[in-house]
Amino acid sequence: MKVLHTIQDLKAELKAYRNEGKSVGLVPTMGALHAGHASLVERSVRENDVTVVSVFVNPTQFNDKNDLAKYPRTLEKDCELLEEKGATIAFAPSVEEVYPEPDTRVFSYPPTDEVMEGGFRPGHFNGVCQVVSKLFMMVEPDRAYFGEKDFQQIAVIKRMAEDQKFKLEICPCPIVREESGLALSSRNTLLTAEEKDIAVNISKTLFASLDYAKSHSLEETKQWVIDTLNGIDGLEVQYYEIVDGTSLASLKEWEDSEDIVGCITVFCGQIPVRLIDNIRYK
Ligand code: PAJ
Repeated sequence: MKVLHTIQDLKAELKAYRNEGKSVGLVPTMGALHAGHASLVERSVRENDVTVVSVFVNPTQFNDKNDLAKYPRTLEKDCELLEEKGATIAFAPSVEEVYPEPDTRVFSYPPTDEVMEGGFRPGHFNGVCQVVSKLFMMVEPDRAYFGEKDFQQIAVIKRMAEDQKFKLEICPCPIVREESGLALSSRNTLLTAEEKDIAVNISKTLFASLDYAKSHSLEETKQWVIDTLNGIDGLEVQYYEIVDGTSLASLKEWEDSEDIVGCITVFCGQIPVRLIDNIRYK
């Protein structure tokens, strides 16, 4: 596996593969890799001749500078995992390489980028679109892989790719969970062992809500999830929305869509860690 840091080196390397007619898969990440990321890499390696994994903590998608500073950076360890999983290229550029000048592009895809994460983290999806569109232009992949853990992110990126006329396939990959059910996240390392036990209730409650939903309305189910989690010491729900899986518009009745996902964000613990998860109802 090659570890490249400049766009010039990346393009030169990819040109050689392109000339041989090889297909290219891209897995964008911010590093601190875990089994969730690894599942995306494994799938790209299976489906493409060449797999590029970008490792870049993108400053433009952080609206909290403290969060950006605290974000774990473990490139050496990440590269070991990527090599083991069979990635072809790890692309780890500097901020100056990606943003030689400030990116002033504005991406707007209402309601998809305005609700939930879009509402609570203003500018977040604009930053995600900025960096992902740059990566698409640099790599020109045939396929790009994203995890359903960030369900809204996939919906926004699909809109961006369509809008910007990128010719590639966006491949959503299922959420990888710990045995306990807790969705894997780089942020889980910020939880104490005790807080982790508490955090397990998030997925537990979401799964239990599938049963609850069979005999209750959408509004009742939504409130039940919120009340159940807020009733647990150490958890505070920021939002729980049951939405259409494509537009992400909030729904009122189970009959309103054939594609329904519940998306949640919960603060967990003493120094609150912001955890997200989601569940498909149909
Ligand atoms: P990051 O949080 O590093 O995640 C990289 C990719 O891994 C995303 O597509 C995310 O959904 C996926 N992922 C994370 N945890 C997962 C899990 N438990 N199961 C399945 N997939 C999981 O998301 C980003 O980085 C950034 O916003 C990025 C797209 C790289 C743009 O900067």
